[in-house]
Amino acid sequence: MSTIITQEIADTENSFKQDVLKGLSSDPKHLDSKYFYDAQGDKLFQQIMTSPEYYLTDSEMEIFSSRCREMLSLVKRFQEGFDLIELGAGDALKSTELLRCLSNAHIDFRYFPIDISANIIQMLERELPQKIPGIRIEGIDAEYFAGLKLASQRSTRPRLVLFLGGNIGNMPPDVAGQFLLKLRQHLHTGDMALIGFDLKKNPWTIFRAYNDADGLTKEFNLNLLRRINRELGANFDAEQFEHYESYDPASGACNSYLISLCNQHVDLCGQQITFEENEYIFMETSHKYTPVQIDKLADQSGFQTIRHLFDRKQWFTDVIWESI
Ligand code: AVJ
Repeated sequence: MSTIITQEIADTENSFKQDVLKGLSSDPKHLDSKYFYDAQGDKLFQQIMTSPEYYLTDSEMEIFSSRCREMLSLVKRFQEGFDLIELGAGDALKSTELLRCLSNAHIDFRYFPIDISANIIQMLERELPQKIPGIRIEGIDAEYFAGLKLASQRSTRPRLVLFLGGNIGNMPPDVAGQFLLKLRQHLHTGDMALIGFDLKKNPWTIFRAYNDADGLTKEFNLNLLRRINRELGANFDAEQFEHYESYDPASGACNSYLISLCNQHVDLCGQQITFEENEYIFMETSHKYTPVQIDKLADQSGFQTIRHLFDRKQWFTDVIWESI
């Protein structure tokens, strides 16, 4: 059994255009990294995840392939039946481990993967029932909170919300705090969250993960300019931009920029966008935390920390939180 719930496509297209126009008319210029994920971007991100430098996926995969039993025991109350909602499910490679474990334990659950990529949701709807026969999946092609609302309308049971991969890192800490408060408001007391945070570590390890030797991260960033050409009819020359990465061990901010290599103009929806040589577009932040900072975030947003699940290197943590 499967259903795909799709947001108004016209809406989505419109906000892409509005957001791009607004971001590129601002000073400093910026684009939203949520727009990285069109079909090409999905492919590039898949390649990044298997690159030797990008450790996040391996670290979290290690946690999911060895600790699912423990996750189950920590969400004991759910053995009666519950709904599993995943924000930004992506290829769901990690959550599939947990889904399999739940299924083997004969726990009654429905899986609501939410993702802004319609491609990804369709793929999950197709492939998951082959991997886990009998799974009840209802894919939702929407943004996080729109998706969470849709899922909540269909769910009266206790909920476990998954937010994996370090996706929360794409928000600066103050925005992450607001996001978690809002998440808590969408949940009931006793509902749980399992959230993946990338941790502070040797700065070079982090820097290299976002500055890989094969240039995948560079292409991932430049693809957004190409997407703007494809979908909004702009005329960016991606060759005239270079990727610049920075990691600040003090704040934990890992930031991606595209730098204009010359003075140039770009035509975009009837407007002319001017770039000076060396002017930057702020593309993405991937914030890194310490465990103590993460526990503070839980406290400040109405959650109680149940457990940290670390990988062996302690490079990444999946926290289990309970709504209080
Ligand atoms: C999907 C947001 C977790 O920030 O590490 C990977 C995206 N950007 N390489 C991250 C990303 C550049 C990734 N997240």
